[in-house]
Order: sequence, then C-alpha cells, then structure tokens
Amino acid sequence: MIYYFSGTGNSLYVARHLADALGERLCPMVSPVSTDDEVIGLVFPVYGWGIPKVVEKFVRNYKASLLGGRLEGGFLYAVMTCGDDMGYTDRVLEKALGRKLDAAFSVLMPDVYVCLPGFDVDSKEECKEKFSLEKEAIQNIAKCVKERQTVRHLKRGPFPWTKTYILRPLFNRYLVTDKYFHVDASSCVSCGRCQKMCPVGNILIMDDVPQWQSNCVGCLACFHACPHHAINFGKMTQKKGQYDLLRMLNEE
Ligand SMILES: Cc1cc2nc3c(=O)[nH]c(=O)nc-3n(C[C@H](O)[C@H](O)[C@H](O)COP(=O)(O)O)c2cc1C
Repeated sequence: MIYYFSGTGNSLYVARHLADALGERLCPMVSPVSTDDEVIGLVFPVYGWGIPKVVEKFVRNYKASLLGGRLEGGFLYAVMTCGDDMGYTDRVLEKALGRKLDAAFSVLMPDVYVCLPGFDVDSKEECKEKFSLEKEAIQNIAKCVKERQTVRHLKRGPFPWTKTYILRPLFNRYLVTDKYFHVDASSCVSCGRCQKMCPVGNILIMDDVPQWQSNCVGCLACFHACPHHAINFGKMTQKKGQYDLLRMLNEE
C-alpha cells in the first residue's frame, strides 16, 4: 500500500509510477484503509525542509494502524519529492511516526514554491530534465523496496540542520497560512478551478470569488491552477510563473 499526499500533482505522479512498478495500491492520506500489506510507502512533497502539516496529522493520527500495527515485521519507507533539497525531512517524519523508517528516498521534481524572493518555478528545460531522471529514480526505488533494502538515497543539500531545525519552524509559523492569498476580482472568472484543486477543501467560492477558510497547508495548488493568474500570495507572486504538471508532460 502506498499512501500519498500531493498539492500540485508531482507526488501523485511519482506515487502512481511507483505503484505501477510495485503492483501496489494507492490511497490518499486521509485515513488508512484496512490492509494486511507488510510493505507500506508514504509519498509526499517536502515543504520548508520538513513534512507538510497534513502529512504530520496523518502519521500522528494513524501511526498505530500503519502496517496494521505489525511494525516489527513490516517494511515502512518514504519517498519525498522536492524541487531542490530536503534537509532532514526524513527525521521530521520519523519523529512524527515515533519510529525509524526502513528506507527513505528523495526524488527531484519541478519546484512549485514561489512565495519568497528568489524562488520561482523551473524552466521547461529544467522540468524536462527532472522528469527524465524521475523515471530512473522510480525504478531504483522499486528495486530497493522489492528487496527490502534498508537504504537512504536522499538529497539533503547544504546546511540541512539549519534548514530543518531553524528555518523550518519560522517557515511554518509565518508562511504556511492563507491570510496572504488574495484574488483580483476583475480577472477572476469564477471558474472554481482553485476550489476543485485544493487538496484539503480550504476554498469556497462566495460572491463569485474564492475565499480561503483558514485551513491551508500551503501547497499553492490554488495559485498554480488559476487560469488567469488572478490568485496571488501577497505581492511576491505577481510576476512568478505557474506550474501545470499536465501541460508540462504534454509538452515533453
Ligand atoms: C510550501 C512549499 C514548500 C516547499 N519547500 C521545499 C523545500 O524545502 N525544498 C525543496 O527542495 N522543495 C520545496 N518545495 C517544492 C516541492 O517540494 C516540490 O515542488 C514538490 O514536488 C511538490 O509536490 P506536489 O506537486 O506533490 O505538491 C516546496 C513547495 C511548497 C509548495
């Protein structure tokens, strides 16, 4: 069984490939379906060199049921997608799980983070390069999982400790919020795409425009999905690019 969370599609894309390669079932991180599987995978994006809060909630709530409570005999692994580097995200996950992972992998995927100066989506060429490397990475992960190898193939990047244990708490505290999202009502066509794409149901269309309901996980699905670039996060994102996984794949 592979449990996944994905904001803008990258982690679902990876999870699907892995599920195909392993002949496994996929399940969104909502609540674990009952399973006798001895091998459990968790696939999700890296947010601020740590785990998204929706993933933290899932593992804290259901850690006893992961592997059907048979933590001893089972094999638990994580695949974390990131645009650049993941710091000590695996350790943050292990803390929430209350146990060590048997294996952990990071997979480079197009970067979707745009809310700080200097951060933008990848160019088409960078996306293409990452998609081509992803295929090989998934085959390698599938092999490790099939053989139950206790390995870590992770791109921690420079200063991982500082990023995960100093910057991440600040990131979570000040930047994982929907209070800076706003919509340009003159560009918004009330198509409801932002509402549909929000993976946690945090957007309602009221008075013909999106209204955020204070339960944001910061995935930026709404920003990237808007066909008119009418949604922005503060002033920082007005000139930033939008990421559309399906369009990128079609152009590949
Ligand atoms: C809120 C947020 C924080 C992010 N933080 C990081 C990070 O710390 N390191 C990194 O390499 N990529 C980071 N990214 C990029 C994503 O991890 C990457 O694009 C991922 O593949 C998105 O997965 P998804 O499409 O399944 O949501 C971040 C993206 C978001 C939206």
